[in-house]
Amino acid sequence: MKNKQEIITNFIVFEGLDGSGTTTQTNLLKANFTKKDIPCRADCEPTKSFIGKAIRKVLKGEESVAPGTLAKLFAADRHEHLYNEQKGILTLCRKGVKVISDRYLFSSLAYQSLKFGYEQVLMLNKDFPLPEHLFFLDVPEHVCRDRLSIREELEIFEDTALQQQIRDNYLKAVSLYADTGMIVHYLDGTLSKNELEKIIWSLLI
Ligand code: TYD
Repeated sequence: MKNKQEIITNFIVFEGLDGSGTTTQTNLLKANFTKKDIPCRADCEPTKSFIGKAIRKVLKGEESVAPGTLAKLFAADRHEHLYNEQKGILTLCRKGVKVISDRYLFSSLAYQSLKFGYEQVLMLNKDFPLPEHLFFLDVPEHVCRDRLSIREELEIFEDTALQQQIRDNYLKAVSLYADTGMIVHYLDGTLSKNELEKIIWSLLI
């Protein structure tokens, strides 16, 4: 794909299926930057903004919206995450802060495409800038299922039948951004959390 999306230096994204360990690695990486006195912020999508909170209600099944509405809510939440003047990703990364996001636009391509059509989701996300590093934690669907089975509340996408399709969408989405300048790391997410932590750190320093 001919891609003109800007790359944001200092912006790092973790992606993977539900249960793949993105939140764990986001937190471990933040701790490693902090130990080295490197300014860093870790957060996630959906964000904690009012838009992100509305999305969480849909994910929990407390509200129901058309698939296109959900895709647009994710895009609006992402826009605010990026462009908020005080605390947006762009502002922070330009000041030299490492910003780590647990999920980003690749999640929309992987999840919203299930019901809203890949091309339409792509259109909603095509102008967003890309991270400098994308880590995809690849974990087989059955391992994610076992990890999720110990959680009490499952969200709408945490249905095992959907996870294989989501993984296929992820691989399609990530390959679309080959040759954009974004550095993509496919990692074996079945490794122990500390092994993965070390590999990720070695890829960044
Ligand atoms: P997750 O990040 O796993 O948070 P938690 O640990 O609180 O469950 O869950 C977020 C869910 O949102 C996950 O199922 C993926 C989904 N999602 C989308 O469908 N589209 C998106 O664009 C994003 C960012 C997330």
